[in-house]
This record gives sequence, structure tokens and C-alpha cells, in this order.
Amino acid sequence: MGKVAIVTGVRRIGRDISEHLLRKGYDLALVYRSSDEEVKRLERVAGSLGRRVLLLKGDLSEEDFCKKVVEETYSEFGRIDALIHLASPYFRTPIEEVSAEDIDRHFRPIAMAFVLLSKEAYKRMLLNEGDTRGHILAFGDWAVEHTPYKNYSAYFLAKGALHTAVKVLAKEFAPHVPVNCIALGPTLKAEDLTEEEWERILKNTPLKRAVSLKEVCELTEFLLKTESMTGEVIMVDGGRHIAGSGLGSVG
Ligand SMILES: NC(=O)c1ccc[n+]([C@@H]2O[C@H](COP(=O)([O-])OP(=O)(O)OC[C@H]3O[C@@H](n4cnc5c(N)ncnc54)[C@H](OP(=O)(O)O)[C@@H]3O)[C@@H](O)[C@H]2O)c1
Repeated sequence: MGKVAIVTGVRRIGRDISEHLLRKGYDLALVYRSSDEEVKRLERVAGSLGRRVLLLKGDLSEEDFCKKVVEETYSEFGRIDALIHLASPYFRTPIEEVSAEDIDRHFRPIAMAFVLLSKEAYKRMLLNEGDTRGHILAFGDWAVEHTPYKNYSAYFLAKGALHTAVKVLAKEFAPHVPVNCIALGPTLKAEDLTEEEWERILKNTPLKRAVSLKEVCELTEFLLKTESMTGEVIMVDGGRHIAGSGLGSVG
């Protein structure tokens, strides 16, 4: 029987991961809010490969929607093998102006949704056979663990909670469901950065290149198979976490 994964946040990196998993034989529940074009494209790819996708449109800030995602996935495919949570707002919240609403608008889809989706998916994963019955993977940010940068306080608070949730759930869901996190560094340019700023970031990254999307897809596939690792936050960041201030030999 083919495996089934839920993927949230399929606009850019999530779209490539989804396509990779379809090619590896997964059927997918694609969770999106406004990326209609991307999910239609993925639907066509799935059709050409003889795979199935379920499109679930909604806002992961809502508890009911999180529950519905898992219920509808299970009722469509009859099993759930993996949850991959990429959905994440990312907008500036200078500390002088940050509001409760800004914090909420990041925290709910990033951290709260991860816990609620995981809790519901875990119950269905337990119905699978074998010692390892499913895998949960979050997408975090290298800077949370090392040096959060300025003006993104609400984002970092939420991603910090996400990294903590990975460790909490890894313990809760052992021994049957490993929970891990890929903490990305510069992979695709954020919309609010100029090309010049993006080039400067890459120049100040030890490996001096953007993170390879192909490697992110391959690592995701590997983490959906691993049975020996849980509670890990893996930096896939071109070495930014060892770059210090970015001055000296790096800068
Ligand atoms: N790009 C990088 O270089 C980089 C660096 C560090 C970490 N990361 C992390 O890697 C992941 C993917 O990054 P990306 O650049 O591909 O992301 P992105 O292009 O900014 O897309 C964000 C995704 O989050 C979804 N989303 C946001 N709020 C949502 C909500 N309330 N409900 C449902 N979906 C919501 C969006 O859905 P819709 O488009 O459907 O609205 C979109 O698919 C994210 O977790 C990000 O934090 C990326």
C-alpha cells in the first residue's frame, strides 16, 4: 500500500517537497490557504504519476481546521504515515510596535497548529503496523537556536515554540513516532529582501551558497524513513550557525 503524508505550506519549499514525495510514491493531503495555483500544479503532477492528492484549503490558525485536516485525510486515504509542517507566516514586527495580534498571527499557524495536527495525526499513525508507525517533521529556522536577528520578534517566538514542541512531542510519541525538525538557513529569498541583501546574506554564509532545495527534499525523504532519531533539530543552513557575527574570515 502507498504511503500517505500531510504537507502544510506548499507555496515554495513545500511545493518542491510535495512533488518529490509524489515521485517517491506518496499520496498527499496538501494544506494551503491562498496557494491555489501551486496546488493545482501539484494535482496535475499527481495525475501524471498516478498518485492521489487531497486539497484542503483553510487557515491553520483555527483549531477546527487543524482537526478537519487530519480527519479528512484519514477518511480519504484510510491511513496517515507522515506529517510535514512548513506553513509559516514571516513578516516584520519591530519590537517597538509588536502587538498581541502579531504574536498570535505567528504563534497559531506555526506552533499551535503543529501541536494540534501532530496530536490528531499521531492517533491515526498508531493504527499503522510495525514498530515505527509514522513520522512527524517540522520546518524551523537555524537562527532560533543561535542568533535571532532583529525586527522579527513574533516570528522567532513562534519558531522557538515550534522547536520546543518538536522535543516535547518526540518524547510523548516515542517509541512509535519519531518527531524531528529541519532548521533551514537561506534557501529561497524572502519577499521583503532586495537582491543585494540576499547576496550579502549568502556572502556571509560559510558555504557561500543558498541551501539546496534538492538536498532539502532528499533529507525530508530520509527523515520519513529513519527509525533511530527523534527530537532532533537539524541545521541545514550553509553553516550560518557557525558564522558568528559574519565578520572576519566569513564576511
Ligand atoms: N525560505 C527560506 O530561505 C527559509 C529560511 C528559514 C526557514 N524557512 C522555513 O521553511 C518553511 C518554508 O519556507 P518557504 O520560504 O517555502 O515559505 P513561504 O514561501 O513563505 O510560504 C509560507 C507558507 O505558509 C503558509 N501559511 C502561512 N500562514 C498560514 C496559515 N495561517 N494557514 C495556512 N497556511 C499558512 C502559506 O500558505 P498559502 O501560500 O497557501 O497562503 C505558504 O504556503 C517555513 O516554515 C519557513 O519558516 C525558510
